[in-house]
Parts: sequence; C-alpha cells; structure tokens
Amino acid sequence: PEGIFASTSALKSLTANFPELPVVEGTEPSRCILDSFRIAIAKIVVGALPQLTVEQVYPGVEYGKKGVDFHVAMPRFKLKGKPQEFATKVAESFQPNEWIEKAYADNIFVHFTCRTTSLNRLALTQINELTHHTSSGQPEFGTNTSGEGKKVVIEYSSPNIAKSFHVGHLRSTIIGAFLANLYKACGWEVISLNYLGDWGTQFGMIAVGFEKYGSQEELEKDAIKHLFNVYVKVNADAEKDPEVKVEAAKWFKRMEDGDEEALKNWRVWRELSVKKYEEEYARLNVHFDEYTGESRVGKEWQDKALARLSEMGLIDDHEGAKLVNLEKWKMGKAVLRKKDGTSIYLTRDIGGAIERYEKYHFDKMLYVVASQQDLHVAQFLKILDLMEFPWAKKCEHVNYGLVLGMSTRKGTAVFLDQIIKEAATVMHEQMKKNEEKYSNVENPEETALEVGITGIKIQDMAAKRINNYTFNWDRMLSFEGDTGPYLQYAHVRLASIERKNPELLPLPPTAQINTDLLTEAGARDIVFLLASYPDVVKKALTTHEPSNVVTFCFKLGHAISSAWETVIVKGEADKEKAKARLFLYMSARDVLASALRLLSLKPLERM
Ligand code: ARG
Repeated sequence: PEGIFASTSALKSLTANFPELPVVEGTEPSRCILDSFRIAIAKIVVGALPQLTVEQVYPGVEYGKKGVDFHVAMPRFKLKGKPQEFATKVAESFQPNEWIEKAYADNIFVHFTCRTTSLNRLALTQINELTHHTSSGQPEFGTNTSGEGKKVVIEYSSPNIAKSFHVGHLRSTIIGAFLANLYKACGWEVISLNYLGDWGTQFGMIAVGFEKYGSQEELEKDAIKHLFNVYVKVNADAEKDPEVKVEAAKWFKRMEDGDEEALKNWRVWRELSVKKYEEEYARLNVHFDEYTGESRVGKEWQDKALARLSEMGLIDDHEGAKLVNLEKWKMGKAVLRKKDGTSIYLTRDIGGAIERYEKYHFDKMLYVVASQQDLHVAQFLKILDLMEFPWAKKCEHVNYGLVLGMSTRKGTAVFLDQIIKEAATVMHEQMKKNEEKYSNVENPEETALEVGITGIKIQDMAAKRINNYTFNWDRMLSFEGDTGPYLQYAHVRLASIERKNPELLPLPPTAQINTDLLTEAGARDIVFLLASYPDVVKKALTTHEPSNVVTFCFKLGHAISSAWETVIVKGEADKEKAKARLFLYMSARDVLASALRLLSLKPLERM
C-alpha cells in the first residue's frame, strides 16, 4: 500500500519518520493536510480505547475552541461508562509524536494540538506544491475530488428580456457563479445555464409596441434598454386602451403557434439582448455554458405533464383554463394552461426540467432563484415528483433573500450596467481621496471597476443567503470593516511584500526553507487557517453558502493584519528567518487569491 500520500509528493518523504497513518475513507490528506492530523488524533484515541475504530473516531475530530486545534467529545461514541473517564484515559496514555504535540482532558473533551513544526512544514509545502507544481498547471490547493464522474446543472441569473435586471437577478448571478466555481473545485462537471425570460405575453406587448415606438438603430445600440423602453410605453398605452392587450395576446398566440412572421422580430430581439448581457456578465467575471430560456421549452412535455396530472385527478377546469390542485401538499392551486391554450411560466418549468434531464442526465440540478419564488419552485418540483421522475429528488432550490433599496445615487437602477458603472464611479472617487496611493495606480479606472465589483459581490455574499440586506454604497465600498475593498487590499499588500524584498527572491526550493523559524503565535495562526481552506470549500459544498468562504477570507485578512507588526520580513536581520516569513506570506497570498477567485473575484496586484 502507498500510505496516505502519493509517492510523488514531497509530503511522502517529509513524513517518512512519522508514525504511520491508516487510510480513512472520504479523506484526502494529499489535498488537505489537516486530514492527516485528524487521522493521527483518531489513531491516538483508538490506541487508548481499543473498542473504537479509527473510522468511528475520525468524524468526531472537530475544530477546537480558541487556542486549541482540535477536540474530541466523548459522548458521541456512546460507550458504556462515564465520558469524563474515557477523556481522562485518552489524555493520560497520550505520548507526544510528530503529528500531535499536546493532549489534555477537560470534562468530556480531549483537546489536541498539532506539532507546530510539522504543521508549518507540511501545510506550506502542500500549498506550494498544489499551487505552483500541479500537473494541470492550475492552482489546486483547496480543491478535492469528491465529485469526480458527477454532473451538475446550475441555473442562475435568468433575467427577463425587456424587463429590468433587478437585484434579485444580480444576487442569483453572484451566488450562481460562485456555486459553479465551487462544484468545479470539488471535481464535478458543471453545466451553467441562463434561463432567460424570453417568452410570454409580454412579447406580444412588445411586438405591438414596436410597431409604434421601435427603432432599429436604438435596438442595435442597446437592445436591453430599447426593448425596456418600448415595453414601458406600450404598457402605458394599454392602461388607456384595453384593445392593446387583446392585440398583444393575439400576437403571442401566433408566436406560440410557430408563425414565422410573428417570430421574426422576436428572434432579433433575443439575439441582441443576449449579446449585450454577455458583455456585462464578462465584466462581472461570470460565464454561461448555455443561454437557454422559456422559449426553448418544447410543447411535448408540457402537454404530457397536463395529461399525466389529469389522469391522477389533480387537474381542475376553470372556464377553460387548467389548474393543478396541490392543496393536499399545502401548495395551493396553480394555473398550468390558459384559456387560449398558451403555456405559462409554471408549465414551462415542468417541461424545461424534463428536457434538461434528457439532455444532460445530471446527478444534480440547482435552481438559484429568489425566495420570493419558493412556492413556484416547490410546485414544479412537487409536480415532477408526482410524475414519478426518479431524478426529481436530485433537483434543489438554492434560494436567497431580498436586497432592499438598491438604486444609483441619482435614482432607481433598472439595468445591470447602471449598477456596474455606479460601483466604478463611487469607488474611483473613494480612491482619489488618497492622492499619494492614487498616483501609483497604473490604470485607476479599471482598478476602480474591479474593486467596485468586489464591493458589491462581497456585500452580497457576506451573510447567509436567506437574509435580506440593505444595499449601501458607502458601506460596501469602504476600506474599513469587512468589505470587498478590504479583501482586495489585503491581497495587494501580500503581493507587495515580494516587490519590496527583491534581495530575498527567488526563494530557494521549499525543502531548503527553514519553516521551523516560524515560531510566533501569529505565524502559526496564519498557517492553521491556510491549512483549513480545503475544509472551508467542502463545507460550502454542503451548505451552498458563499458566506462560508467570505468569512474565511476575513479571518485570514485579520490574522495577517495582526501578524504584520511582529512577523516582519523587511528589516529582519536573520535572512533565513526573513525567507521563511516571506514564504509564509506568499503562501497566504496564494490561498487568499484562490478563495477570492472561487468567489468569482479577480485578485488585484496593486490598487
Ligand atoms: N426569469 C425569472 C424571473 O425573473 C426567473 C427564472 C427562475 N428560474 C426558473 N427556472 N423558474 O422571475
């Protein structure tokens, strides 16, 4: 057997004289060094309590409270006898080794401390290996292989053509992009979908309105804005003249019936809108594998769904309209088909899901949609379940709360590009306040845009998804407090240590850097945090909470700030020590950059 590290890894030789560790299912020490320390702890516990196995103990090795790396709570093993006594027994038989240097009992807990020299060397070596020497050429520290061979479809953003791109869509975009990165980092094959609101009676309205207010020139300049304006105007007309809605419904019916003449303009609108969106998503560092949409959902499955639900006695007729009755499941009644036979949002989601399964055979499908649509999503997922599709259980709603009061300083924002522009402007003003720093920034506009976007995204992902929050330019773009600019600044500062210490570069090969010289508590805190990053990624995969990663970034930022004065590089007379510290900060920078990229941000070199 190979042991817990691949023979090609430096970790293998570094741990050659350490107590041997067993392989534990579900762990990946060659990607997460803390796994090996946890296995070492499990082995120690089993050494004292042979009635347990390493597999049983391992899941009980948890992060400890401040100042202690890990603890094990005895009651979870449900052994016959007093938990306190088992804890004492483990602590008393403990012999320090290369992995663990300290253990002590406290009531029902045993607390464990990793040997600092081992932790420093192994963690920093691993980070370096998995950042700069991977076979893929890409940084891999933090990634894992748990999703290998599995496919996930993630639907996010999904704005409506000709309507405003509101904050709900922005949140979906931000959270969805993070989830796509996260699943990739965990080895999944990811298919990202933008499910456009590109179908429905509003397109009949726009068709009617376009005859009166449309301009080819305006359309080509900015399709999103122009169609929105036409839609607003024709809606105003409809207020006064009920005929407009009748005309619009007729148009949409023709579209649904596949009348090429009625579809011609619509096709152009869609294409030009997608083009515009793509530009804006690119600025946000967001990408889609497919721009699908409500218009792409075929009739076949929508009809079959209705037939199947009728057979099951779940369809009520209301003056020609068809309603599905989900009252048994406390999900009310919902229209599936209108009187004129045209489909609606709900039916399209049913058909759409079935088609996606037929196309992708996914292992999981996520809908990143606002919690305002909880009922809608619950309804169509329930219907798929009632139709006995075995994969219905693989679909999941990733919901999120409201954003209150988002506007530009001039007024309400309705378009994504207004929000992006405003972020860049506000940030630019902010940066100009520090003249000296500002004069050193090479391309202030671009930097302001990037920091501004970071501010928006971090504000959005800082708390649990389900929480509402209030949009606040001043707060999100401040350098003080837990903000996006603070994180970019933390990265820039780390990047600058390299520039400020050219005489130490290039650093010698990792094996020749004396990491034993990292003796300060501040240095250890940083190393332990860095080593925990793969755990953060894994946890986020189970919670679908970007805040897990954001919180990690802030903790790391704070740990670095507090080490800054004591763990110095420039001015350290002992060159060996200075090199070890520089290596620490470069590793911190690598990990922070990975975490920021996972959050769909672009870490900056200067600002
Ligand atoms: N276009 C919809 C809206 O803006 C969101 C679509 C959500 N996804 C879905 N499969 N229903 O409200």
